[in-house]
Amino acid sequence: MRIDIVSLFPALCKGVLSESVIGRAWKEGIVDLRLVDLRDYTHDARKTVDDKPYGGGAGMVLRPEPLFECLQDLRTPEARVVLMTPQGRRFDQPTARRFSQLSHLILVCGHYEGVDERVRQCLMDEELSIGDYVLTNGAIAASVVTDAVVRLLPGALGNDVSSEEESFGNEPLMEYPQFTRPENYKGMKVPEVLLSGNHQEIAAWRLEQRVLRTVSRRPEML
Ligand code: ADE
Repeated sequence: MRIDIVSLFPALCKGVLSESVIGRAWKEGIVDLRLVDLRDYTHDARKTVDDKPYGGGAGMVLRPEPLFECLQDLRTPEARVVLMTPQGRRFDQPTARRFSQLSHLILVCGHYEGVDERVRQCLMDEELSIGDYVLTNGAIAASVVTDAVVRLLPGALGNDVSSEEESFGNEPLMEYPQFTRPENYKGMKVPEVLLSGNHQEIAAWRLEQRVLRTVSRRPEML
């Protein structure tokens, strides 16, 4: 799968996405990740990408020309183009799964007061937010989406089943509690059932814990 992240801060994404599981998937070619600097699509000496809003007001708005040129360059017939913005629909696990089936995803990072409306209208297939708060720029949001998508690609996690049984996996249930050694840590003991070796009882206990957790933490998921 190819993912292009268009932003003013490609180094920010590079730092986050070069580490750990995603860094390995990138190195191994499981994902063809391209960090695109929007300033490469400017033509003036100062590499200007933004300007004051018509009608007045605070902040700066991304001009249309660099984004139109950039997307003309990057877009393939299969590409899905997504604008990262706090005004978008909330990103979630089903969206991550949908994106992981694509062959080409282009994530465009918004900036300051936003992007020229003509960019949203003409170039974007959808708009996504990673939550109801405002970040300084969309590169962080695009990195979050990329992480959630790439870990679902075949071979990205060492063990392919491990993305299936987790919270927000294929069932809308939170994950069960996990324990490792020691069996007794300062008087806090591992539940007996996990030491029993009885796989059926362990599976039943885990399912019960998943339901209890979901009811107490995220009842709206049920
Ligand atoms: N850019 C700034 N804040 C954002 C958010 N919450 N989600 C996506 N992009 C953003």
